[in-house]
Amino acid sequence: MRTFELPSDPAFWQDPAPFFQDALASGGGLFTSASGLAVLGYDALFELGRDPRLDGHPFPEGDFGPDKADIHALLRWGLFALTGPQHRALRQAVIGGLSTRRVEALRATLRLQARELHGAMLEQARPDLIASFVAPLAARAFCALTGIDPDHAGAIAAAIAEIGGQLSFAPAPERLPAANQAAWGLLELMHTLEADGSSALITDIAARLPPASRASAAELVAAFALDAVETTTSGVFCVLDCLIRQPQLHRELAEGRYTLAAAVQEAFRLTSPTILTARMTAGEIPWRGETIPTGTTLVMWWPSANLDGRAFARPAAFEPVRPARRHLAFGIGGHGCLGRQLASLLAEEAARVLLLNGGPRPVRTGETRFLPRFSRLSESAPIRFD
Ligand code: HEM
Repeated sequence: MRTFELPSDPAFWQDPAPFFQDALASGGGLFTSASGLAVLGYDALFELGRDPRLDGHPFPEGDFGPDKADIHALLRWGLFALTGPQHRALRQAVIGGLSTRRVEALRATLRLQARELHGAMLEQARPDLIASFVAPLAARAFCALTGIDPDHAGAIAAAIAEIGGQLSFAPAPERLPAANQAAWGLLELMHTLEADGSSALITDIAARLPPASRASAAELVAAFALDAVETTTSGVFCVLDCLIRQPQLHRELAEGRYTLAAAVQEAFRLTSPTILTARMTAGEIPWRGETIPTGTTLVMWWPSANLDGRAFARPAAFEPVRPARRHLAFGIGGHGCLGRQLASLLAEEAARVLLLNGGPRPVRTGETRFLPRFSRLSESAPIRFD
């Protein structure tokens, strides 16, 4: 079998596309790797991602180790790490909480929040697309979703950034105590919201939990806080950074050639913010003449699906008018992302306010230098307005 490893070349984080080329040229499929098998290419990711035998990836033996006890407690009930009937039941409860109606009801609030942050950014001497706009907006969206006072958004964003730093490919050991403390604080906050009944989201999830559930609704929400804030910051930034670089966008939207929603989804496809996630086989999976044994780790390289020329003609081009085909930036199947609707809504509202407000045109200045993280996030993103 061919081999595909996480590239050690720092250039990978800036632009992973060339690193997938050989794998895609040979049709994608399964590759050996130090951590199990790597899955690359649209067909392989689409088919295996939807296979119910490819389940969540449990935390390693001994969890994250005694030095990360609070971070583990925060993520303990992450759906991505759960399997079988327990996962299905808890996932259903979370799906019920994150209903289409609840998410859509946030649109007006998030548009207002985006306007407010945009207005403040226009006044700043050195505005930064991430620090001034996207990161606070994602934190406010999490607050709006969970019923937390938006005044706490800054502290939540800082806590998540601290925890996220420890889950990157290059954690700073001296920041570990602060990250554990941040994780402890976040989990406590969720428990308080559940106890005082002030979060309709948590109350709704709690009402849908299976009888005698070992996980509480507070723990389930705590476990996706990182997705809801950090992954969303990464995703909305990638979308805006891509759309800002499309001078034709404004005109083509005005001509009705496509909708803003289609442009946002095309930007998600093209930038594929989440580089990889891990799954594990819960049973043997026969696949194209091979058998993947039970208990095998599969590393799902989602961007390689979205850059696969067999699935998307001219895959490196921004073309919102494409034959309808589902992109895999949010994964797929029984472990597919539950925040797709919220992240898409937030990206649309952020793009509307930033790019279609009839005011000064945003121009990215300086380099975008992506950090070595599971989801693509630049350390800074300076912007000016012309
Ligand atoms: C642009 C932002 C986001 C991106 C790119 C993203 C991407 C992903 C990806 C690739 C997966 C793995 C899917 C799979 O294995 O098939 C995932 C899982 C997940 N995401 Fe997101 N996500 C984003 C935002 C969010 C938000 C806002 C939430 C919650 C409000 C969320 C909640 C989750 C959960 C709970 C899972 C695990 C589902 C399971 O294992 O059953 N995500 N996400």
